[in-house]
Amino acid sequence: MLVLGIETSCDETAAAVVEGGVLVRSSVVASQEDLHAEYAGVVPEIAGRAHAERLLPVVREALARAGVGLGMIDAVAVGHRPGLIGCLLVGVSGAKALAWALSKPLIGVDHVHAHLYAGRLVPAEAGCTPPDMTFPALGLVVSGGHTSLYLLRDFTRVTRLGATIDDAMGEAYDKAATILGLPFPGGPNLDRLAQRAQRERAGSLEMVKLPIARLGRESLDFSFSGLKTALLYAARGVPGGDPPPTLTPDRVMTLAASFQQAAVATVRLKLERANEQHGPFPTLLVGGGVSANSLLRHELAAFASSRGMAIHLPELSLCVDNAAMIAGLGGALLQTGHRSDLSLQAVATSAL
Ligand code: KG4
Ligand code: ZN
Repeated sequence: MLVLGIETSCDETAAAVVEGGVLVRSSVVASQEDLHAEYAGVVPEIAGRAHAERLLPVVREALARAGVGLGMIDAVAVGHRPGLIGCLLVGVSGAKALAWALSKPLIGVDHVHAHLYAGRLVPAEAGCTPPDMTFPALGLVVSGGHTSLYLLRDFTRVTRLGATIDDAMGEAYDKAATILGLPFPGGPNLDRLAQRAQRERAGSLEMVKLPIARLGRESLDFSFSGLKTALLYAARGVPGGDPPPTLTPDRVMTLAASFQQAAVATVRLKLERANEQHGPFPTLLVGGGVSANSLLRHELAAFASSRGMAIHLPELSLCVDNAAMIAGLGGALLQTGHRSDLSLQAVATSAL
């Protein structure tokens, strides 16, 4: 079973071909980073227009790399929620047109659930076998638009346990990077600088204490805006207070490492709570752009191993937005009898 996946929810135009819900035959991502860099953030109108220009060339490229023609595709899956509405509409319209023209099933896929699925995908190469997964699983999505915890009974029964009440983790990383004067895209650049700090100044690095938002004693929600503001004050000073230390390259490096440490500690705390309240879980599924973060990957692996959990982290190229995760989850949904019809809507908000 070959599923063509389409993803246009934010600023990546992506298409992929996935076999049997797990084997990635191709995954093509046209990033719009260059178009949005001068605004230090995604401009929805520019993103939507770029999707419209790029979608068909990207689909053609995905088919060519997979070595398949359109006639060999068994279904078309599309990320139809959540995201920027003008961007989602391009992908949903394109997927509907293809499914209708080919007389093949159309499957609407939740983008955030697809991030959780990405750890199940393997390259379609000899010797690669998809990992076995035991449910129920604890799921964590950390991206530019979402930071949420989930309980998964399987990939079709997903319940949200908590979510950010303000900034998403990736958004906080991007804003923190702007505060520190790092170039767009902020998250990966801040991560690189924090890693450099650990590598070059391992013994002498004096972290700045930044807050970890616990919220209520039992809360599984996240908050990153206090951390972001604390970083702003550490970098530029508290309004009306003493001037801060000069923002030298060395100080920027220390602040980057301190921010990274506090942000990752926040996630670990919430995972521990979720596992206590709803677990123990045999499996931890993680996805979203920030799951490419070096310290987070390390801490999540340590957390899972300390609890005897199997962890499924996507390979780096499948952490950020891509269409392989859409085609993969689309294939899994199709196998369990789920499908959409041409009334499928683009929806800006997350499912609960
Ligand atoms: O999943 P994604 O591509 O898009 C959304 O669905 O939001 O995630 C993009 C986010 C951006 O905020 C980016 O800065 C962040 O993921 N990101 C990282 C890293 N790589 C990507 N944040 C921290 N460390 C990284 N290595
Ligand atoms: Zn995403």
